[in-house]
Amino acid sequence: MVKNVIIGQGLLPRLNEFLPAGKRVVAIVDSNVYALYGDTFRQFECIIVEASEEKKTLETMGKIYSQLIESGADRGVFILGVGGGIVTDIAGFAAATYMRGVDFGFVATTLLAQIDASVGGKNGVNIGGYKNMAGTFRQPLFVLSDVDLLDTLPEREFRAGMAEMIKAAIVGDAALFTLIENHDLRADKSLLINAIRAAVEVKIGIVERDETEQGERRKLNLGHTFGHAVEKLTRQFNHGEAVSIGIVEACRMSVERGLLEPSTAARIEGLLKKWGLPVETDLPRGELMKAIRHDKKADGDAIRFVLPRAIGEVEELKTKN
Ligand code: GLY
Repeated sequence: MVKNVIIGQGLLPRLNEFLPAGKRVVAIVDSNVYALYGDTFRQFECIIVEASEEKKTLETMGKIYSQLIESGADRGVFILGVGGGIVTDIAGFAAATYMRGVDFGFVATTLLAQIDASVGGKNGVNIGGYKNMAGTFRQPLFVLSDVDLLDTLPEREFRAGMAEMIKAAIVGDAALFTLIENHDLRADKSLLINAIRAAVEVKIGIVERDETEQGERRKLNLGHTFGHAVEKLTRQFNHGEAVSIGIVEACRMSVERGLLEPSTAARIEGLLKKWGLPVETDLPRGELMKAIRHDKKADGDAIRFVLPRAIGEVEELKTKN
């Protein structure tokens, strides 16, 4: 499991300190990030990719393999993935599979990637509109999360990251939940750094115990069973927004089963709303359930939902398909 998650300010200018000495570096860089921070990355061979779910495909992967082969990259190459969750997924998958696997690291440039997507070692591509249907588990050598990069992150993307932070708090850190309730984290970088660290610690703690998602790691899917279906059926919501809707749905299911106090469900919904996140969708439930059944989180004849029991405590529910 990657322990080398470096979270702080002023880290990007120090990037070269973190790279393995003497290795050839090929950077796979989000086109938006390249437009803003190209000066830092021009020192490397760069493969520029467009960060959209539609491009997170095997076709894009084929192009990356071809570029690596044409440039003569061998098993000694170091791949540096630079961007948000889509690009870290693409770069991680490319590194895990090119020549049966080469070393890699990430510069996570969105809040969502700094909290969640760059950490954990899962990577993958979408197949036929279904998310992450092909992928691998492989850990990066380091993840560099410089909060200064969030200065240029659009507000909507910042909020999407907050959905994953709130998810991490519900899964395993009640104090983090209270911190998010009581502070405007975007306005205070040192608090933001502490909050990102706390969220990453929730994730690392769980992943260390269950790297390949045989059991406990599935807790991190809170909001994702429903959220992935929402993402699949509409272009209206980004990943964090869809997860927000999924968390509220999970709370509703949990209250219905008598597992969660309605007041706690209201507190969770209130915090998501405070961050401007959507909490419902008018997509037909039948359509959503159909998409859920096709999602990879459907397991044989069962569908798994993660339900909150309290802030900081969740449990898995396996329902009949
Ligand atoms: N890359 C995201 C995860 O491993 O959970």
